[in-house]
Amino acid sequence: MLKELRYYLKSQSTSLPRYILEQFVMLLFGSVPSLIGVGLRGIAYKAILKADGVPVIEHHTRLLCPANIRLGKQVYLDSQVYLHALPGGISIGDGTSLMHGTIFHVFNYRNLPQAGIAVGKNCFFGEYTCIRGQGGVHIGDGVYTGTQVQIAAVNHVYSDPDRFIKDQGITAEGIVIEDDVWLGSNVVVVDGVTIGKGSIVGAGAVVTKNLPPYSVAVGVPAKVVKSRRDADAVRQQVAAQVHYGQLENMRS
Ligand SMILES: CC(C)(COP(=O)(O)OP(=O)(O)OC[C@H]1O[C@@H](n2cnc3c(N)ncnc32)[C@H](O)[C@@H]1OP(=O)(O)O)[C@@H](O)C(=O)NCCC(=O)NCCS
Repeated sequence: MLKELRYYLKSQSTSLPRYILEQFVMLLFGSVPSLIGVGLRGIAYKAILKADGVPVIEHHTRLLCPANIRLGKQVYLDSQVYLHALPGGISIGDGTSLMHGTIFHVFNYRNLPQAGIAVGKNCFFGEYTCIRGQGGVHIGDGVYTGTQVQIAAVNHVYSDPDRFIKDQGITAEGIVIEDDVWLGSNVVVVDGVTIGKGSIVGAGAVVTKNLPPYSVAVGVPAKVVKSRRDADAVRQQVAAQVHYGQLENMRS
């Protein structure tokens, strides 16, 4: 029983005193709605995680092992965001937003040294995007995802057909997504892949191989259909009306 309790505790926090503090702070402030709740959490959560500024954290977020979470300035965590920062931790750069239901789970129950999730500045993760970080997931600046994108830095070994897959271990090489990448809705990125700077992946694609910088890739498995560096492709792309938003102005 004690063994199970210790295991459970390790999956929730970095120590028993921290667990008590974290649970207390989250119990007091975690479900307070409105601007008042955002304000209270912006101050109180600095006691349980590392934040450079005052993070904007909506109510009903789920933060496990928050001592291993680092948030830059002007980070936004929408409600139902779930960050599970097992060893390797989670770091989120300045101005990055995680929308409703986004999950970052390091999932490092095996103590892999390469595990962790590191996200750069000014990124945006669409609703229900999920990242698993066993092999290490490194995301650059200005990366945008549509809804329900899956980035899974892990594969199960299945070489022995006579044993349960779950008992054969995992491989975890890691995923790199460079600056200025846009992943359409429902994209899946599998382990070991690097997506080069400035690339676009079409909705529903499964990325199984590296994509060179400025690729436009679509399909299952994802294939490069054009390069953003190709002058003809660029000319064709801007056929529809372009709308510029006020996002940056709203922040200042
Ligand atoms: C990838 C995407 C950006 C391509 O836009 P584009 O530059 O205008 O490219 P085109 O429409 O000329 O498509 C090029 C080819 O890829 C195909 N294609 C485009 N998107 C595709 C997709 N998601 N899956 C499979 N094939 C796709 C096109 O049919 C076309 O094939 P063809 O040359 O045989 O006719 C766009 O189709 C897309 O998937 N956007 C994601 C939308 C989304 O998820 N939004 C959520 C908000 S972030």
